[in-house]
Amino acid sequence: MSKKAYITTPIYYVNDIPHIGHAYTTIIADSLARFYRLKGYDTFFLTGTDEHGQKIEQAAAARGKSAKEYADEVSAKFKALWDDFEISYDYFIRTTDENHKLGAQKAFETMFKNGDIYKGEYEGHYCVSCETFFTDSQLINNEYCPDCGKITTLVKEESYFFRLSAYQDKLLKWYEEVDDCVMPKAKKNEVINFVKQGLRDLSITRASFDWGIKLPPFLGDSKHVLYVWLDALVNYISALGYGTDEKNFSYWPASFHLVGKDILRFHSIYWPAFLMSLNLPLPKHIAAHGWWTRNGEKMSKSKGNVVNPREVAEVYGLENFRYFLLREVPFGQDGDFSQKALIDRINSDLGNELGNLLNRIIGMSGKYNNYELISSSVLKFYKKDIDTADAILSNAESFIHELQTNKYLEEIWKVLTIANQSITLYEPWTKIKEGKLEEANAIVALSANLLAKASILFSPIMPKTAQTIAKSLGFELDTKSYEKLIINKELLDTTVITPTAPLFPRIEKELMNTPEPAIKEAKKDEQLISADKFFNSKIQVGTIIKAEPIEKSDRLLKVFVDIGEEKPRQILSAIKAYYDAKTLEGMQVCVVANLKPAKIMGFDSYGMILTAEDKNGITLITPQNLKDVGSIIK
Ligand code: ME8
Ligand code: MG
Repeated sequence: MSKKAYITTPIYYVNDIPHIGHAYTTIIADSLARFYRLKGYDTFFLTGTDEHGQKIEQAAAARGKSAKEYADEVSAKFKALWDDFEISYDYFIRTTDENHKLGAQKAFETMFKNGDIYKGEYEGHYCVSCETFFTDSQLINNEYCPDCGKITTLVKEESYFFRLSAYQDKLLKWYEEVDDCVMPKAKKNEVINFVKQGLRDLSITRASFDWGIKLPPFLGDSKHVLYVWLDALVNYISALGYGTDEKNFSYWPASFHLVGKDILRFHSIYWPAFLMSLNLPLPKHIAAHGWWTRNGEKMSKSKGNVVNPREVAEVYGLENFRYFLLREVPFGQDGDFSQKALIDRINSDLGNELGNLLNRIIGMSGKYNNYELISSSVLKFYKKDIDTADAILSNAESFIHELQTNKYLEEIWKVLTIANQSITLYEPWTKIKEGKLEEANAIVALSANLLAKASILFSPIMPKTAQTIAKSLGFELDTKSYEKLIINKELLDTTVITPTAPLFPRIEKELMNTPEPAIKEAKKDEQLISADKFFNSKIQVGTIIKAEPIEKSDRLLKVFVDIGEEKPRQILSAIKAYYDAKTLEGMQVCVVANLKPAKIMGFDSYGMILTAEDKNGITLITPQNLKDVGSIIK
């Protein structure tokens, strides 16, 4: 039986359309899957969409759609993008699939029967956007999410808990025993430090909304749905048929779970603990990459600085884009997207080094030997160069196992450099003049073999390009040629070269209209923004019609503000400690009117009232003179 590999991407939330970050993870995973297939592994590559939870329920509601309708739409967008990008996934999972639902319920049931789940009461601050709970001390200014900065909601409800605390020592033992279970090292150390601080049991059900998987029927408790992260993580086994048809389950455990650093904790703490409770083997590697930014800033729709991967691929070429993503940034580190960096890579690494090499080989072989390529005399004249290249290439593999795709490509490109330099150095045209035809052809064959070997190894990253080169050089790009040219370090058989058009036409100027952000050198800590961006917020003068305290909250008032619309806006504001509700009536305030509605302690809030805070507490900001309601603040 052949060896198996199982590669996964995160399943992406359907609350947003795919951007360059999603493409990055998916393209690394795709390259890794293709690499294992090249090596002859029986490979299963999984991607998909994460479709439950309050965040998605809200995103759907904001568009006047049912959650399922909305999830169908966005999930299809992800799938279409991956199909257009020829991502070689074997299965696209959706958490709304029936099979997944059964798998998730089976997991819950098994954990329950193993004594790891109990019923209790949960109180905590919930960030809907991150679908995560935080403790008091983790919050920023007592109410904002430490990860995304959005306002959190205080939730108190009955909940089922997973005994995460019982797994602290087992997790620490695993991190210690399996060196590269979490990659890269620096990230692994962060995880270990976090676990050492102590793990609390994890609330794994929610009763406050419906859009989720119901608890397994044997419990007879229909009030709850599964917490999205339990639901989501189980996708990695439900996709293989866990709880339903287990014929693909032999792919488990995963070889690599690829994730962004934002969700490493869920994958390296919760997920292995769940698996231990299920008595299943743990993934071999969980690997977290860094963050793509634009001009040093986080990309987000509201900032309007999102890089659309489809556009980049259309304009610059899909394979060029793939090369850039994997070559530009060391795995684990953050990277900044710019068209200039992309163009530099295309013109120099791809055009000058790779494309030109193929052109030179085609030209010389045509001129000197009627396109026939004979490798047999390479070793007679140039064994040293072949040996050097073989050594580099057999060493390169270790980098891809560590996901150091940039180093992997760097090493392969060293071989292209050797090929280019040997032409310049050994001057086949001089050999021809001297009548040394065999030696001249050996130089052509030397560079052609180096190109062939390099192409085999970069084929997982640029499959089409490698295929074109293989066709032109006259060999089949498959596991057999990988074994022959890379593992056994052999050379090509005698082949006939087919001329092909230049692979990488030079790019002279930036091709996308998306303007580069205005301030190039914004200091990272200042996070400068343009005036335009600031006035994405619509801030208006409003008059408070009435205000009332929220019983269960020490901080919140429910405030009704007239901003010149049909009805006053209901806004929840954390000013209870500083204002008596009754005194607020008639007061003018500044309202951010185009905020997404939020649910806070069960109440809808449509906007935000501006306040200033210092050591003496909070005051409302009011206009100096009475202004018409709805006046725009600029
Ligand atoms: O977290 N740079 O889904 P999600 C690099 N549903 N990678 C980025 C990125 C950026 N700027 N933005 C997003 C979820 N990503 C959960 C996952 S898995 C069981 C459940 C990538 O749609 C990166 O891989 O928020 C990150 O981890 C993932 O998208 C988050 O996708
Ligand atoms: Mg996210």
